[in-house]
Amino acid sequence: MRKPFIAGNWKMNLSLNDAVTFVKELNNNLPDPKKTQVAIAASALFLESMIQNKGEEPLIIAAENCYFEDEGAFTGEISPKALSEMGVTHVIIGHSERRKYFNETDDIINKKIHAVLRNHMIPILCCDETMGRRESDSKISWVVSQVTAGLKGVSSDDAKNIIVAYEPSWAIGTGQTASTDEAEEGCYLIRQTMADLYSDDIANEIRVLYGGSVTDENAEDILSRKDIDGVLAGGSSLNVESFINLANLSTK
Ligand code: PGA
Repeated sequence: MRKPFIAGNWKMNLSLNDAVTFVKELNNNLPDPKKTQVAIAASALFLESMIQNKGEEPLIIAAENCYFEDEGAFTGEISPKALSEMGVTHVIIGHSERRKYFNETDDIINKKIHAVLRNHMIPILCCDETMGRRESDSKISWVVSQVTAGLKGVSSDDAKNIIVAYEPSWAIGTGQTASTDEAEEGCYLIRQTMADLYSDDIANEIRVLYGGSVTDENAEDILSRKDIDGVLAGGSSLNVESFINLANLSTK
């Protein structure tokens, strides 16, 4: 039985004060961690304060990105080793905004996945799908190829802990969420790819999330689907009440 995983992705939003207040407001409002895992991915600049202020709260603090080298002459980059030392346990890798605005290729994403694993953290690998690709019906090969390339060289032992998110960029920040059938279809495809790359057992073990205009109003249906193990929410994770509602939906 896979444990639901509800993640917020704040992107480059909020202030340090907002972030700390938000984390404190979650206190005693999150679901039982035995039933659901809840994470927030935030700017690297906020992570340490968030970790310090979350206290006993069962909140996972995640980074939104990191570099693929642990240290060295890479001015301005975020070291995965430093994230891990700080207490960060999860890192989003390959978000469509990183692919689009920062030219992240599958090869870079694959190196980042290895860097996260090498530093004993869990990658949340995002797979994009554009409306153009969906309309031209080439979605299947692109989603499959992002999973395959992103996980190249990753062992079965590591693969079973990885979280993969199906995030069609036409649904991100647009208010145009994929239909629940489309969301499940994308997640199913990712699971099938994991079965082909690894084994049925690993495919059954990994968690696959849907992301793209998820809110506390549309998530219940999405979360009810067999192949969707959680959500990655951007806009709706910026409001503490909506985020608490979202986090608690998965236990219904
Ligand atoms: P959105 O973003 O919920 O604002 O569409 C999701 C994401 O980018 O992960």
